[in-house]
Amino acid sequence: MRLLMIGPPGSGKGTQAALIAQHYGIEHISSGDLLRRHVANGTAIGRTVAECLRRGDLVPDDIVMDILRKPVEAATRRGGYILDGFPRTVAQAEAAYRVAAPLGTEVRIALYFTAGRAELIRRLLARGTQTGRTDDTENVISHRLDIFHQSAAPMRDYYTRRETLITIDGDRPVAEVTATAIAGLDRARQQLGLPLHSAPVQPGPGRANPKVSVFAATSGRATHATGLNR
Ligand code: AP5
Repeated sequence: MRLLMIGPPGSGKGTQAALIAQHYGIEHISSGDLLRRHVANGTAIGRTVAECLRRGDLVPDDIVMDILRKPVEAATRRGGYILDGFPRTVAQAEAAYRVAAPLGTEVRIALYFTAGRAELIRRLLARGTQTGRTDDTENVISHRLDIFHQSAAPMRDYYTRRETLITIDGDRPVAEVTATAIAGLDRARQQLGLPLHSAPVQPGPGRANPKVSVFAATSGRATHATGLNR
């Protein structure tokens, strides 16, 4: 099972990705977390992207593709992933498609979280106060939201045309948002003819067949695919 998660900063991508990943037994991969880890570790990539993150600008596509490739490959082998924070633009979605399509490692479902601007700012300022995340300041939050909104409409069009796009109101309690997302995902998978049970990362009680790929049944269909893998 391979899922994408898009939405403005603060809409709950990271929070929901962790819960949905746990529900389906797949991995949660966050482009933002990976980038922040590079910065914290002082790697060459981290030194290159630190200023982008501090300002709230998008990191160049080639760097993002590069840091995601290995984790996505590994998670695909282990049963699937939910990718939080990628793609940010149609250009990234198309670049990922060019890599994934020849291999049939397509992502068929994208989740799109919404919430009002005032609520997003409230959440991010609260987190900035609690955690000290350096891009959770008023000016940078505003810039991040503006950047997101520049690409939001083209991204929605892209996924509406090419994938099953599930739009979810993220301005509700966390557990309600999770339940809506899971119900929407199960419905979409039924409509697409995909099995309801996916391959777990670690087989556990009640998860009998870790080899089943939810996308195997449709990998030959002529739908546009987005994902990262080679
Ligand atoms: P990234 O880390 O992806 O940040 P973001 O998109 O700005 O998203 P956030 O993590 O701020 O919010 P979220 O939607 O995940 O919400 P969360 O669950 O955390 O990216 C950071 C930077 O990395 C970018 O600015 C860019 O520089 C770079 N980058 C990353 N990916 C890139 C890419 N593909 N291309 C180029 N550059 C890239 O929740 C936020 C807060 O709200 C939390 O405190 C949470 O507890 C709270 N909350 C969540 N849900 C609820 C709820 N339902 N009710 C109340 N509070 C809630």
